[in-house]
Amino acid sequence: MISNHLLFKLASGEVFGPDQPIALKLLGSERSFHALEGVAMELEDSLFPLLREVSIGINPYDVFQDVEWALLIGAKPRGPGMERADLLDINGQIFAEQGRALNAVASCNVKVIVVGNPCNTNALICLKNAPKIPAKNFHALTRLDENRAKCQLALKAGVFYDKVSNVTIWGNHSTTQVPDFLNARINGLPVIEVTKDRKWLEVEFTEKVQKRGGVLIKKWGRSSAASTAVSIADAIRSLVTPTPEGDWFSSGVYTNGNPYGIAEDIVFSMPCRSKGDGDYEFVNNVIFDDYLLERITKTEAELLAEKRCVAHLIGEGVAFCDIPEDTMLPGEM
Ligand code: LMR
Repeated sequence: MISNHLLFKLASGEVFGPDQPIALKLLGSERSFHALEGVAMELEDSLFPLLREVSIGINPYDVFQDVEWALLIGAKPRGPGMERADLLDINGQIFAEQGRALNAVASCNVKVIVVGNPCNTNALICLKNAPKIPAKNFHALTRLDENRAKCQLALKAGVFYDKVSNVTIWGNHSTTQVPDFLNARINGLPVIEVTKDRKWLEVEFTEKVQKRGGVLIKKWGRSSAASTAVSIADAIRSLVTPTPEGDWFSSGVYTNGNPYGIAEDIVFSMPCRSKGDGDYEFVNNVIFDDYLLERITKTEAELLAEKRCVAHLIGEGVAFCDIPEDTMLPGEM
C-alpha cells in the first residue's frame, strides 16, 4: 500500500525534480509477483515523461544491481501473540539479507531508507550487513512522526503548518519516541512561548504524536500508507535539496560521531541538515533540559535493548532479549 502511493510520486518527478529521469526497480516475493506486474502496468500506462524503465523481480541480488536509492518498505507486521523479539528476528532476517545484497551489487554510495518496522533496528541490521556502504548512508524513517508533530503544533497555535520549523523526533520509531517541543519553533519563536502550555506539550502533544499510528489503525483497519508515502518523499527531498537556513529535519541515522551524547553504534532519530547532495550533517545549536534528556535516555535504552536482541544478525554473538514490556510500535497501541 505504501509503495503503491510512493511509486507514482517518484515517477512524476515531484521528488527528484523535473530534470531527473527515473528507473524503478521493484522487489517483491513469489506471492506478490502478480501484484507487482499490475503496478508496473499502471506505471507504464501513466506515460510519465521521466520514467525510463520499470523492472520487477524477487531476487534482491538482481533487483538491487547499481541502485542509487533503496527504499526498503516491506516487512512482516506483528501478528496476534507474537513477541517483539520474534518480530525483530523475522524482520531482521529480511533486512540482513537485503543489506548483504546491497553490499554486493548496489552503487557504492547508495542511500538506503528503511521503512519496514521496527525501522531503527532494521536499519542497523541492514548497515551491519553492508560493510562496503558508508553507515552514514542508512536512514530509518521518522519523517512521518515529524510531520505528525508539525500538524499538531500548527493546529494548537492556529497557524498553517509551514510556520512550524525545527521539529526533531529523537530516538526510536516507537511509542518512546520524543517529539521535541523545546527546540521547535512557530513563526521563528519557541513553541513554548507561543503555546504557553507546557503541560499540553508534555502530555497531550507528546502522546498524540507517539500513538498517532495506532489511533489511525483503529479508524482505518490498516496502518497509514498514503501519509507514510508522503513522508518518504519528504525524507528523500530533504536529502536532495538544501535545507532552508536555520531549519532542520529528523531522520533515524547512525549515531557514531553525534554531538548529542547519544550512545554510539545504534540508529537513532536526530536533527539533520543537508546541502542537497544526498548527504547530511548533524545540527549543533540544539538545547536540552532535564525533561528532554530523561525522555531521550528512555528511547536510547530501548534501542540498546533491541540491539542486544538482534546480536546474532549484526555479528555480535548470541542474542539476549530484555526489551522492556511497554515497547510498542506506534501501530501497536
Ligand atoms: C505508523 O507510525 O503509522 C506505523 O509505523 C504504524 C505501524 O506499526 O505500522
